[in-house]
Amino acid sequence: AIVEHTFNVGNLSISQLCQPDRIITAVNGQLPGPTIRVSEGDTVVVHLVNESPYGMTIHWHGIFQRGSQWADGPAMVTQCPVQPGGNYTYRFNVTGQEGTLWWHAHFSFLRATVYGALIILPRGGVNAYPFAKPDREEIIMFGEWWNANVFDLQQMALLTGIPAGPADAYTINGKPGDFYNCSASNQTHMFEVKKKETYLLRIINAALNTPLFFKVANHTFTVVAADACYTTPYKTEVVVVGPGQTVDALMVADAAAGRYYMAASPYDSGIPSGPPFSKTFATAVLEYAGGPSTTTTWLPELPEFKDTDTAHRFLSNLTALVLPGKPTVPLAVDTRMLVTVGMGVADCQPEQTLCNRSSTVFASSMNNASFVPPRSTSMLEAHYSNVTAGVYTRDFPDRPPVVFDYTADASDNATMQYTTKSTKVRTLRYNETVEMVLQNTRLIAKESHPMHLHGFNFFVLAQGFGNYNPTTAAPQFNLVNPQERNTVLVPTGGWAVIRFVADNPGMWYMHCHFEAHLDLGLGMVFEVQDGPTPDTSLPAPPKDLPQC
Ligand code: C2O
Repeated sequence: AIVEHTFNVGNLSISQLCQPDRIITAVNGQLPGPTIRVSEGDTVVVHLVNESPYGMTIHWHGIFQRGSQWADGPAMVTQCPVQPGGNYTYRFNVTGQEGTLWWHAHFSFLRATVYGALIILPRGGVNAYPFAKPDREEIIMFGEWWNANVFDLQQMALLTGIPAGPADAYTINGKPGDFYNCSASNQTHMFEVKKKETYLLRIINAALNTPLFFKVANHTFTVVAADACYTTPYKTEVVVVGPGQTVDALMVADAAAGRYYMAASPYDSGIPSGPPFSKTFATAVLEYAGGPSTTTTWLPELPEFKDTDTAHRFLSNLTALVLPGKPTVPLAVDTRMLVTVGMGVADCQPEQTLCNRSSTVFASSMNNASFVPPRSTSMLEAHYSNVTAGVYTRDFPDRPPVVFDYTADASDNATMQYTTKSTKVRTLRYNETVEMVLQNTRLIAKESHPMHLHGFNFFVLAQGFGNYNPTTAAPQFNLVNPQERNTVLVPTGGWAVIRFVADNPGMWYMHCHFEAHLDLGLGMVFEVQDGPTPDTSLPAPPKDLPQC
């Protein structure tokens, strides 16, 4: 089937956190935006009509885009932004994947309010889930809310070289809930349940800069999928979800009839320290239908901001549900990469006209290369026409320039801390198997980075703390049923090992899904060459591809 939508992106007036009539950018006047619901094998067609004052692109987070590479969406990587007044039609097939994904703007900080769910049902519908069919399904989307205009915030960060500050609130389905000032009752998402029914919660972290803990008072979860990949059922009281990630969890309404808060609270976000930032949380209310009326709403006990044990337990215990016909871990590796991810500093850039030139500015990097998107044309167009001069270079390194203790306090390695801006890609042969060790640095701050790869899922073979040590890590690799994901939360002060097969030609962004870090250069691009046949090759660009 073809599932068609029109996304009118424009101004929406909304009152939130004591601020009446804030103007935000939204799709079809909704926050979160419209849900796209399809079955595996369907074709999605979305007509983007940009009535906002900003450039706009939409990324379909987690969709492989095989044969529809021009629909992936990251600005200047696969397309130029759609200018105000312009339009573009995204057309892609959803094959070989099912579960909970989402879509978001991939230009400036606009994804703060331009986002929504993308649900892929199995071909056989809800009866084809590899777990007992739930009675109902509910989308739970987390976000971050700024009182300021997010486009202006990003512009200011670019001009000064000083990252934008933290959000003013976390949200559940666009609403902050009862624990922020001026939260009116219409600013709390209500969720009615029937006693004994089973709910499939499709949990999506659309927040810009913050991994989140999620709990529901007096209820527990059984996780059945993450990033639209089925997992071995995993029982837990807390769900941990990094920006970009999704978790599908079954929840049985088996508590005493009453009112309970569901709450999302920050874990180890980009800002190292923190009250009031780290002490705030978003809530929604779960209410039993026809239950005794009560004035008490029970609040779950939330983990501490730096509760890495709880986060790591959840994130490292998930394993894949091995199903016939699903991809298995490639055992032969063609290319091994060790890639540092973290924050550093750089000189003021020419466009940073408000930069204090006597000091350096923050710049984040991978293997000490701080990614800056090209300006003249998109990288995918440059790749397609093979005119890459002035757009990108093919010298992204497989190792960091210097090897040092990434995690000790003495890690303020001058060479590594200081970075320069560039647009480097790593070229891969079609079908090459890549193993990447993502090593966190703590040059500036020790924190987790949610690393997202476009165009592929990858297997997470192992993760741990400290410096990656191949001798001790290799025996820990799960080569049998490792979780498959499109975004891995690289442990704070630690590492993660991922593996994927480059069987999708095109230009694929890999980056930190903290918007603040992405903006400072925490990214790189894989350039995957064409395969031997027309259907393993990059197709020609669509006629309406926006030009810069
Ligand atoms: Cu969800 Cu490149 O991002």
